[in-house]
Amino acid sequence: MADKTILDYETVDIDLEKKELIIIDQTKLPGKTELIRLSEAKDIWDAIYLLKVRGAPAIGVAAAMGLYILACKIVTDSLDEFYEEFVKCKDYLDSSRPTAVNLHWALERMDEVAKGEILSLKNSNYNYAQEEAIILKALEKECLLIKEEDIWVCRTIGEYGLSLLKPGDGILTHCNAGQLATCKYGTATAPIYLGTEQGYNFKVFADETRPLLQGARLTAYELMSAGVDVTLICDNTSGMVMKNGWVQAVFVGCDRVAANGDTANKIGTSMVATLAKRYNVPFYVCAPTSTIDMSTPTGDEIHIEERKSEEVTEMWYEERMAPAGVKVFNPAFDVTDNDLITGIITEYGIARAPFTQDFIDIFKRKEEAGYGK
Ligand code: MRU
Repeated sequence: MADKTILDYETVDIDLEKKELIIIDQTKLPGKTELIRLSEAKDIWDAIYLLKVRGAPAIGVAAAMGLYILACKIVTDSLDEFYEEFVKCKDYLDSSRPTAVNLHWALERMDEVAKGEILSLKNSNYNYAQEEAIILKALEKECLLIKEEDIWVCRTIGEYGLSLLKPGDGILTHCNAGQLATCKYGTATAPIYLGTEQGYNFKVFADETRPLLQGARLTAYELMSAGVDVTLICDNTSGMVMKNGWVQAVFVGCDRVAANGDTANKIGTSMVATLAKRYNVPFYVCAPTSTIDMSTPTGDEIHIEERKSEEVTEMWYEERMAPAGVKVFNPAFDVTDNDLITGIITEYGIARAPFTQDFIDIFKRKEEAGYGK
């Protein structure tokens, strides 16, 4: 039997019997594949903040499963108190990272389920233990559904993305919008995986992605595991490979897309988009509809997470590489202006400028398709 690769592990999983969240600790990759089990609120919060689980869709699934696990631990004897505690857990997990809207989106989905169940139980003849069991069953179902949907969403994005590519194409990607950022396929990597299955022989360039090296540690690793021809480049090399004509398309993921198509993704993405425009390379954002935030009008209103300076000055180095006390600006994301984006690929089709109308149509298609799918 072929050796197990990183793609054979679940990025996010749940042990329903033990009520534990199971994730790959991505801070240890590629050197060590370590699965960790979490059941305490602080540990789940830390895992998200410290990027043990990261990537917008994976964060959403982990938070939903984490919230279910925390809900199972609530000890009370009234529905009102249960909901009060539930909301505290939800708000706490929601505070772990601010930019990826999937975190909030997944927690709100769980909240809707809890509220709906509580409302329908209000005048029931069940005792509290029975009511609690009904609510927890519904929350369990919802968090499993969020994961299942993510797999379908990524695969469908992959199919749309693949329709834009030709065999032998060079593709550049930034950060990790791969399987490790989702539950399967990834978003930006989904067309690559599907094309590889069909013999497309893509040549992929993975930006290393300073300062946390998601491109070097995660994207290069998972693509190599799938036998994809991947070349790792420093972030400041992307202009050269585009100028050389080695890149026919850029595919990136996203953390929040505003209603006008402005897109927040890993810091450096807007630089890549600017270069792509300069060298006439189409620039595609792969976006599950759960990442499109119609309540945020433009990129200016997106809250950009700022992280610790040590990620820039010390992390990954044997010794500190910057003078002690130097001022550091370390935003985790930047916003790519909508006019730099050729298309935003969702599971309900590809949006093109002007994006707002296409998003409205896409959400209409989603609604017509029924809840979730
Ligand atoms: O800080 P990270 O590693 O969570 O940032 C991840 C990204 O920016 C990804 O491109 C984005 O979340 C999309 S993942 C499908």
